[in-house]
Amino acid sequence: MADKTNADHVFYRNPRKFYPTAERGKGIYIYDSEGKEYIDGSSGAVVVSIGHGVKEIQDAMIKQAELISFCHGSQFTTDKAIGLADKICALAPPGLERVYYNSGGSEAVETAIKMARQYQVDRGVPSKFKVISRWTSYHGNTLGALALGGHTGRRKYYQPMIMHTPHIVPCYCYRCPFDLKPEACQVECAEDLEKMILYEGPDSVSAFIAEPAVGATAGALVPKDGYFQKIREICDRYDVLLIVDEVMTGIGRMGKNFAIMHWNVIPDMIIAGKGLGSGYTPINAVITTERVHGAIKEGNGAFVHGHTYSQNPCSCAIASAVLDYVRDNDLVNRSAQMGIYLLDKLKELNKHSIVGDIRGLGLFAGVELVKDRETREPFDPKAKINTRIGNRTFEKGLICYPGGGGADGIRGDHILLAPPLTITEEETDKLVRILDESIGEVAKEEGY
Ligand SMILES: Cc1ncc(COP(=O)(O)O)c(C=O)c1O
Repeated sequence: MADKTNADHVFYRNPRKFYPTAERGKGIYIYDSEGKEYIDGSSGAVVVSIGHGVKEIQDAMIKQAELISFCHGSQFTTDKAIGLADKICALAPPGLERVYYNSGGSEAVETAIKMARQYQVDRGVPSKFKVISRWTSYHGNTLGALALGGHTGRRKYYQPMIMHTPHIVPCYCYRCPFDLKPEACQVECAEDLEKMILYEGPDSVSAFIAEPAVGATAGALVPKDGYFQKIREICDRYDVLLIVDEVMTGIGRMGKNFAIMHWNVIPDMIIAGKGLGSGYTPINAVITTERVHGAIKEGNGAFVHGHTYSQNPCSCAIASAVLDYVRDNDLVNRSAQMGIYLLDKLKELNKHSIVGDIRGLGLFAGVELVKDRETREPFDPKAKINTRIGNRTFEKGLICYPGGGGADGIRGDHILLAPPLTITEEETDKLVRILDESIGEVAKEEGY
């Protein structure tokens, strides 16, 4: 990227970086003010599932704005909030029948862990407050969500401000935390939850939270079959709520309505996020059971929590239109089918010796990059392999989502791919071709 920066009043995420001006979007493409076209190969940060510039959503926005844009959740309900909750519950596994709305994913994660805590108090078990999570995970950037996350690099600056919470190992077959070969694996990583609950004391543990497939911190880490089934059993054994964070993976991203449905596991809470608003509005939802809702209703009576924009009618109307679009265009099944095509194409990248692992499910895929394919040794983070490949694809007109820290919290490079669920085979070929060229060029610069 050029060594110029943006000379305006915006506090950018990276003030040393130059950001082109996005002007419009259509389908899987974003166009900048210079007229350059980019394939949105990661839907931003796994957000724009239905693609850019969808007319039906624009119409729903205008229609709702003409009626009412805002009313506060402590004063009114709306037909849009009610209708959207009906649609979300119809997509969710059985038993998940109450929806609490939020704006962002971090806010939704905070909501879920506080809801779990209040549930425990209101049903008469106030000793339960701890939330166990996993290393190599991401749950957001607010301090509570950051505490649950397992990405050392992101936590480092704020460490003194982050509360201590217990973390278990991830389900990461390419870098098995127990060094096991697949044939010897008994999903020991799931058993780690039981050990942690026993160490911490079952009477103190309120909930366990995990992403069904790790996104931002490891690049589409899909768990082994049996993992979440075992996790559910352990949670049940110790009366611990299971919260799945589907901020990235929900609403068809992995070829099912919710990714956890791949394993027929019914959690106590699902956090549904980015694909719900698909970038047309900030909206997230915590979906839970009548057991949790009823305990709070019968206990304190009110959930001692809330955010101003929760349940706002504009966001609810827009998300409702997004879900209709997903249904009408069969995008969940499309994600499953195109995901197979994408993964198959990505396998061509195995020709590069710095490609260590290619994984994914539905249109949620990751390419892990390694210094040495035999030993799986990661690159020195100073080499910035992930960012360099991301910058190179960007120059060539492909947006992907590079990340790092998967190997040990600091080391490890990956590229996350999650194009809009509307992508065609031809567009997928183009995406992979640009990624292929970019990996090849950066590998060559590194002397491979
Ligand atoms: C699994 C998961 N949870 C939570 C979040 C936080 O969402 P937000 O950035 O909207 O606060 C993210 C964001 O990437 C995420 O991937």
